[in-house]
Amino acid sequence: MTDPEAVETREESVYQPSPEFVRRANVRGMEAYRALYARAERQPEEFWGELAERELFWFEKWSHVFEWAPPFVKWFVGAKTNASYNCLDRHLATPRRDKTAILWEGEPGDQRAISYFELHRLVSRFANVLKARGWRAGDRAVIYMPMIPELPVAMLACARLGITHSVVFGGFSAEALKARIQDLEAGLIITADGGWRRGREVRLKETVDEALIECPQVRDVIVYRRTAGAVSMKAGRDLWWHDLDEGASDVCPAEPLDAEHPLFVLYTSGTTGKPKGILHSTGGYLAQCVATMKWVFDLHEDDVYWCTADIGWVTGHSYIVYGPLAAGATTVMYEGAPDFPHFDRFWQIVEKYRVSIFYTSPTAIRALIRQGEQWPDAHDLSSLRLLGSVGEPINPAAWEWYHRVIGKGRCPIVDTWWQTETGAIMISPMPGAMPLKPGSASFPLPGVQADVVDVYGKPVEAGKEGFLIVRRPWPSMLRTIWRDPERYKSQYWGRLPGVYFTGDAARRDAEGYITVLGRVDDVMNVSGHRLSTMEIESALVRHPSVAEAAVVGRPDELTGQAVCAFVTLKKGAADHQQLGEELRRWVAHEIGGFARPAEIRFTESLPKTRSGKIMRRLLREIVTTHSVTGDVTTLEDMAVVSRLAAED
Ligand code: WT7
Repeated sequence: MTDPEAVETREESVYQPSPEFVRRANVRGMEAYRALYARAERQPEEFWGELAERELFWFEKWSHVFEWAPPFVKWFVGAKTNASYNCLDRHLATPRRDKTAILWEGEPGDQRAISYFELHRLVSRFANVLKARGWRAGDRAVIYMPMIPELPVAMLACARLGITHSVVFGGFSAEALKARIQDLEAGLIITADGGWRRGREVRLKETVDEALIECPQVRDVIVYRRTAGAVSMKAGRDLWWHDLDEGASDVCPAEPLDAEHPLFVLYTSGTTGKPKGILHSTGGYLAQCVATMKWVFDLHEDDVYWCTADIGWVTGHSYIVYGPLAAGATTVMYEGAPDFPHFDRFWQIVEKYRVSIFYTSPTAIRALIRQGEQWPDAHDLSSLRLLGSVGEPINPAAWEWYHRVIGKGRCPIVDTWWQTETGAIMISPMPGAMPLKPGSASFPLPGVQADVVDVYGKPVEAGKEGFLIVRRPWPSMLRTIWRDPERYKSQYWGRLPGVYFTGDAARRDAEGYITVLGRVDDVMNVSGHRLSTMEIESALVRHPSVAEAAVVGRPDELTGQAVCAFVTLKKGAADHQQLGEELRRWVAHEIGGFARPAEIRFTESLPKTRSGKIMRRLLREIVTTHSVTGDVTTLEDMAVVSRLAAED
């Protein structure tokens, strides 16, 4: 601190919120943040109880705020509520009745503005459709849809009746979809003929048909007509949404459900080949979603809020659907690609709808940086007042560009750290409270006891790298892994005794700012999407020519990490170049296009420990430092090196 140069560089990279921003902010100044944090620390029951009472509707109140029987937690014990009621009905008795809930733009340029009143009507009708088909609380529905308003309508209709939904991202393949339907034992599928992406039809129903060949328990497939492309409808199983909707009543009361009722399961990749069904419940999840809308996005009644994520990921669940709607916001939804028809589609939408809060991923920002400032500069972005980032670390250069070129130096940036498992934002600036440091997610939110610790669970010194952990349960925490409580225990609560293990590395500076550095496990982050090395390896070895595969993340300027696969072949497999292409396509077929390896490297052998474990760490080193080129001889040398390393 005494080094004047260090002080200078530090000051250079700190951004103060403007006095105008602070004046209107929901949380003003560092002292206000500290007071909130301290209260949540000292009196968690009172803190969350008051918040839940103020921000949400409850059919019946709780007996106590939480019950912690490590590692299982319940929030708002004994209370009755309903997520759909909180997102819709509650607003109808207020001036929000005619406010726009969803501002939707289709990729071809079609648009819809749906008021809370109208959304309530659509959801009630579809809930009646589901009810009439015999679906009820406790059943599971898989939703596989494009980014159209009927996707949140389907989610909210399920939530209205207590049907647990699992949205599967439209980019997943039939194989991946099938695995999720089977694991969830879902009997109901809600889908569409297709959606639009870069001018082409993504034929979702076709994928569903392929997935369902091995899902005999599926009784109903409800198909919304979006693209009017050709589909085949299987008699006795497949039903058109519009046929069922005809004559459905507009009145469908929301079921009073237990606060712990499972709202949704969302699959995410872990460190094995099998995806994990992350289970979220109702009351606590909604409470933290709404709280973070106000704290982090500084939501005001007149904001037009846009999160560019896909609803198939947790970001879309919490920050396109449940958070914004429970908070009574206007939430923008866009169907297609950011570069279609041109690189200014985002900025065109911001200008057109006067978006005031804009939330996107570092990968999207970096991709737009590449295209040049002329694209944003051609649009009036003066409606923007706050920017957000999520999904992966944002490098300071991208942060500065975002701040200068998109925010015109006026808009604070909230770098929000969280996970599918955490349900809602955990570490983030409150934009009117704290000065920002590019690349840092800054401070834990009230009620979040985040820490950076060493392998023994001891807090590390300022400036040192360690594991990011959370000490106490928070309201929107995952409740378990679907049908696998043992994996839940060991994965999250068994690594370091008594604390939640995030799988991320982080560093905290002398002022307490946390910078999240990336994963410490066999999980990759490609364009903000979580991918498991093991899952891709399993996909590769299912190919008839592949003997073994090892997958690692390689640093990539655009996507953060890129998938790099080392492959050994069975005898007789030839023509590497063609096979490389085929294997890339194969992975896309087995998992989805977004998991397609950037690179396939063929090798004679893989470096392994004596017990036969592939040493991914060595391979990571190879692809990161480039100190070893990927030819056969060197890799064999590496295998020797690894064997020696394992022996001492
Ligand atoms: C992983 C969670 C949170 C919704 C989208 C991703 C990484 C997320 C940040 C951030 C640095 C971040 C972490 C985390 N991550 N946000 N602001 N800074 N890293 O959800 O697929 O569950 O992935 O994304 O590594 O563990 P997810």
